[in-house]
Amino acid sequence: MLDLSYIRKQFPGLQSDWILMDNAGGSQMTQAAIHRINEFITSSNVQLGATYHTSHLATQRMIDNQHIMAKYINAADSGEIVMGSSTSMLIRILAMNIGKYFPAGGEIIVTNCDHEANIGAWRELENLGFVIKTWKINPGSFELELDDLKKLLSDKTRLVAFTHTSNILGRINPVKEITQLAHEYGAWVCVDAVAYAPHRPIDVQDWDVDFYVYSFYKTYGPHYAMMYGKKQHLLELPGNNHYFIGQNETAYKFQPGNVNYELAWGVTGIVDYFNNLAVHHNTQNIFELIADHEEKLCKELISFLETKKSVRIIGPKSFDKAIRVPTISFVAGDIDSESIVLKTDKHKIAIRFGDFYAARLIDDLKLRQQNGVIRISMVHYNTMEETQQLIKVLDKVLGADS
Ligand SMILES: Cc1ncc(COP(=O)(O)O)c(C=O)c1O
Repeated sequence: MLDLSYIRKQFPGLQSDWILMDNAGGSQMTQAAIHRINEFITSSNVQLGATYHTSHLATQRMIDNQHIMAKYINAADSGEIVMGSSTSMLIRILAMNIGKYFPAGGEIIVTNCDHEANIGAWRELENLGFVIKTWKINPGSFELELDDLKKLLSDKTRLVAFTHTSNILGRINPVKEITQLAHEYGAWVCVDAVAYAPHRPIDVQDWDVDFYVYSFYKTYGPHYAMMYGKKQHLLELPGNNHYFIGQNETAYKFQPGNVNYELAWGVTGIVDYFNNLAVHHNTQNIFELIADHEEKLCKELISFLETKKSVRIIGPKSFDKAIRVPTISFVAGDIDSESIVLKTDKHKIAIRFGDFYAARLIDDLKLRQQNGVIRISMVHYNTMEETQQLIKVLDKVLGADS
């Protein structure tokens, strides 16, 4: 079992009387990441690549950043780790490259359940002559179905952009199978892992993904992001850097200007955090314990929501850790979702309503008029007591009969 009392001590932001359950919006930062940011600024805040000692230290930390993050996601090569300001920006940089690399007439498949970060940048390639197709969820099961993807794939498909986990639906999509299917048609995949990465381990080699992107401010670190790209692809794509940055560069080609040194060093603190947790719990696989705990929280909340007649869960009703993460969205009849959240605010419970920038999903599900969904997004540092407190408040807010 997770030692929640130990875990919560690792997050200064949790030392308040609020119950923070808007973690898919932004999680708390671990002390280990805060320490690394501080460490960079106070002991190596100089430009890289010079001959003096402090510059050597700063340079080494940036090299270590790529090695540490590559190991964390099981990338084969540290040059495959591209750092950037946000997932939205990294996907835009990638889309610009794909637009230059593939000839017009190529097809790109996007979903209707992604955050707009992994849709809009690709849709804009229509202006360059690409054909954009949409892989829609089954509105009954809220599931992306492989059979529907098969109907869209062709030998002209260049890329499939999809989410590992929707930030509304919470379902873990079968990334390996989807990637394998796309590869059968010679297409690459770009996976948005922002809503997945806080919950489960990442293995880009096992899944064979081409591009895999996520943000650290939702994974216990600072406002910064990372894109994994297969080395061969990074070598082939033109890049966005100065003309004298060689074509044989990988990550550097996609990082015009300096990376943010202190944040890049800061994110290695997230890995320190998970390593420390593994030692504290005497396990090789801390994410197994995390998944078990999250499943218990899901079970508690979903079982409660299922007792409410007016509640419709927007996503899988299953609490199985293999099927979903504890990002749970619902609507209550046709009640304005904002009105519910304004009431829970009063009890110092931080949840949220809206479209979460998955605007096309909310529109396709016809939930715009009621202000989108109510979303409760928990992570491993949330406790059973917090979940029960939320349930108590929701029970009052939703009313006995509903
Ligand atoms: C699933 C998902 N993808 C992408 C993003 C965008 O991330 P960023 O703010 O780093 O661009 C978000 C942010 O909410 C998200 O939830």
